Amino acid sequence: MLKGKRILLIVAGGIAAFKALELIRRLRERGASVRCVLTDAGAKFVTPLSLQALSEDRVYSDMFSLTDESEMGHIQLSRDADLLVVAPATANILARMAGGLADDLAATVLLATDKPVLAAPAMNVRMWTHAATVANVETLRQRGIHFIGPNDGAMACNEFGPGRMSEPEEIADAIEGLLAPAERPLAGKRAVVTSGPTREAIDPVRYISNHSSGKQGHAIASALAALGADVTLVSGPVSIADPPGLTTVHVDSADQMLAACLAAGRIDIAVCAAAVADWKAARPAGSKIKKKAGMAPPSLELTPNPDILATLSKPGQQRPALVVGFAAETENLVANAIDKRQRKGCDWIVANDVSPAVGTFGGERNTVHLISASGVEDWPTLAKGEVAMRLAGRIALHFGRPPKAEAAE
Ligand code: C5P
Repeated sequence: MLKGKRILLIVAGGIAAFKALELIRRLRERGASVRCVLTDAGAKFVTPLSLQALSEDRVYSDMFSLTDESEMGHIQLSRDADLLVVAPATANILARMAGGLADDLAATVLLATDKPVLAAPAMNVRMWTHAATVANVETLRQRGIHFIGPNDGAMACNEFGPGRMSEPEEIADAIEGLLAPAERPLAGKRAVVTSGPTREAIDPVRYISNHSSGKQGHAIASALAALGADVTLVSGPVSIADPPGLTTVHVDSADQMLAACLAAGRIDIAVCAAAVADWKAARPAGSKIKKKAGMAPPSLELTPNPDILATLSKPGQQRPALVVGFAAETENLVANAIDKRQRKGCDWIVANDVSPAVGTFGGERNTVHLISASGVEDWPTLAKGEVAMRLAGRIALHFGRPPKAEAAE
């Protein structure tokens, strides 16, 4: 996928620098050539010799090298690349980039370049969340710098949180998303998306339901269709229109939703974004339950609904290659979602905060975390359509086909 592409990899000084070695291998496996610039701090973590051996090219670190500046000046280093990748991107190099410093070869190349730049941040969680870093990253984003990660997880400093550099494979995918995008990367893939609430009858006029608007699920179905997938949207009762370019099946209850998912036959991708009612009436009345003067309110016996996500996630020949669930939580969001991923047996969980203060239900924006076997990725607050496009992009990458819409931010 990266055949003939030239990557200039800038390795700064962080413990994650060891992953840069693996990144070089991954990129070369995909056909790219890699040339490295190593900062002084980076050289405390990986040796120039390792980078040189894996890239099969010489490593550049000296700003004032007479030979380098005559043969390969800092301008030429950037001219000869299709993309500059900063991995690990430490708080320090991000600050130097944001400030426009040119105090070593790496910073000078980054200042002198007119090529796209992808940064893979890696640092202690407090450094990542420090107002200075947050402002620097925002400045860089506005200048068009692309970012991948960081991921959540345990860190070398014995802390837990965002700050882990993305895995080499993820960075390589993001690079492919920037350099080798595909128009319809999900062409030939079949997807089912559940969306909206379900409605569980108590009697012919009353029901149990919830506030789901279906906006996020419908947007995901549209985004997958836009990337070429053949999509069946199984929608509970919602007030929004059926999206164009895909098949919408309308259902009321969870039982009907499950049946519609199974009726779709063999699928590659399942995204369960519906807010399925956990319970239904054990014995829905066939006619309207009458209110009679002096009579105590009837008691309502509930019974669990089938778990559509867990059912679709069951191992077996029919299991879709990728099953994505949602976790709507009001507290301990990420921890509960990690737990849910395992309990349900799905591959990814999109965790979103639905506390009333956030206004996710029915709102236009969503703040989510993508939880997979390789960790937790925190996404910025985005419009639901953008969350959908980004998720669809990730799904395309999962199938090894980067979408034209950039995989990296
Ligand atoms: O268990 P909980 O409702 O929190 O799990 C949420 C995830 O499971 C969502 O992806 C939702 O669509 C799915 N789900 C389902 N069937 C159920 C309950 C939840 O598919 N009966």
